[in-house]
Amino acid sequence: MKAIAVTRKLPLDDPELFTAVDLPDPVPGPQDLLIRVKAVSINPVDYKVRRSRKEEDTEPKILGWDAAGTVEAIGEEVTRFRVGEEVYYAGDITRPGSNAQYQLVDHRIVAKKPQTLDFEAAAALPLVSITAWECLFDRLGLKAGDLKEGKDKVLLILSGAGGVGSIGTQLAAALTGFTVIATASRPESVSWTQSMGAHHVVDHSGDWPAQIEALGFSGVDYIACFADTATHWEAMARAIKPQGKICSIVESDTIPDLGLLKSKSVTFVWESMFTRSMFQTPDMIAQHELLAEVAQLVDAGHIRSILRERGGKLTPESLAEAHRAQESGRSIGKRVLTVA
Ligand SMILES: NC(=O)c1ccc[n+]([C@@H]2O[C@H](COP(=O)([O-])OP(=O)(O)OC[C@H]3O[C@@H](n4cnc5c(N)ncnc54)[C@H](OP(=O)(O)O)[C@@H]3O)[C@@H](O)[C@H]2O)c1
Repeated sequence: MKAIAVTRKLPLDDPELFTAVDLPDPVPGPQDLLIRVKAVSINPVDYKVRRSRKEEDTEPKILGWDAAGTVEAIGEEVTRFRVGEEVYYAGDITRPGSNAQYQLVDHRIVAKKPQTLDFEAAAALPLVSITAWECLFDRLGLKAGDLKEGKDKVLLILSGAGGVGSIGTQLAAALTGFTVIATASRPESVSWTQSMGAHHVVDHSGDWPAQIEALGFSGVDYIACFADTATHWEAMARAIKPQGKICSIVESDTIPDLGLLKSKSVTFVWESMFTRSMFQTPDMIAQHELLAEVAQLVDAGHIRSILRERGGKLTPESLAEAHRAQESGRSIGKRVLTVA
C-alpha cells in the first residue's frame, strides 16, 4: 500500500520531512477492521509524535489518528461490521496511523460514520469527539442527554475554538442544561466559539476568572481544560467553586500543585482518549458506542462537523502544511485531507 511516512527527525520546513512510501498491505487480526482510508484529519498528537522522534529512529512511521473510510476486510471475530460500510474512528496510538491507503483498527473503537456527512466532514470528528465526550461525561460525570442537569450550574471550556473545544462546546450545549462559558482570544475564534453554542465567551489571554465574575457568576462548577494545564492552573484553582471538578487533557512539564485545590475539596482528573485502546480496557467498546451516538446527533441535526478547511489531497506537501497550521496553536475547528 501507499503511505506518507516520517522517516528521519527533520525540521518542519525540510522538504523531506514526509516521504511517500510503499509498504506491505496490512492483514487484519481477529478483532480488526481493515479500512480503506478516504479522509484524514490533523490533530496536535500528530506533531507531538513527530517531534518526539529520536535521531536514531529511521523506521518509516505513519502518523494520523483520525479518519473516515470504508471497511475493506474484517477479522474472524468481528460481527458488528460488514465489508463496504462507511466508518469513522480515531485509531490507536500504538499502531500505524491513517496517513495511508489502508489501516487496521480494532472494531471496538470504530463506528459507522454520520450518513449526512461526506468522508472529509466525518473525519473531522472522531478524535475530538471521543476526547470531549470522555472528559465531560466519563471523567467530570456530567450526564449526556439530561437537559435538566446543570440548571443553575456553570461549565467552563478552556479553548473553545480548537478541535476539542469546538465539539466539546456543542456536546455540552446540546446534551446538558449547563451554562457553557468557553474561551477564545481573537474575533474569528470568538465568533466560531459562539457558533458552536457557547452561552458566553471570555478571553483566555486575559484575567478570565475576573471576566467570568463580571458576567455575574461567582465561579464555575466544572472546568474542561483543553489548553495548557500549567498556564491556567492558578486561574482554574481561583475560578472553580468549592467541591467542583476539573478535567484536563493537556500534559504538563511541571506537576500541577494539587494543594491549591485542597481547601475547596476540588477533584482533578486527567483524560487521555488513547487510554482505552492502549491498555485494551474491558470497556473499549464505549468508544464505538459514543461515536455511534455522535453520528446520530449529527444526522439528527443536534450537532455538526467541525470541518473548517479542506486541505486537498494527502501528499507530503499538504501534510507538512497541515502540521504547520496545527502547530501554530491558532487552529479553529479542523483541517482535513483527502486520501486518493
Ligand atoms: N488527552 C487527550 O486525549 C487529548 C486529545 C486531543 C487533544 N489533546 C490535547 O489538547 C490540546 C488541544 O487540542 P486541540 O485539538 O483542541 O488543539 P487546537 O485545535 O490546536 O487548539 C487551537 C486553539 O487553542 C486556543 N489557544 C491557544 N492558546 C491558548 C491558551 N493559552 N489558552 C487557551 N486556549 C488557547 C486557540 O484559541 P485563540 O486563537 O482564540 O487564542 C485555538 O483556537 C492539545 O495540546 C492536544 O494535544 C489531548
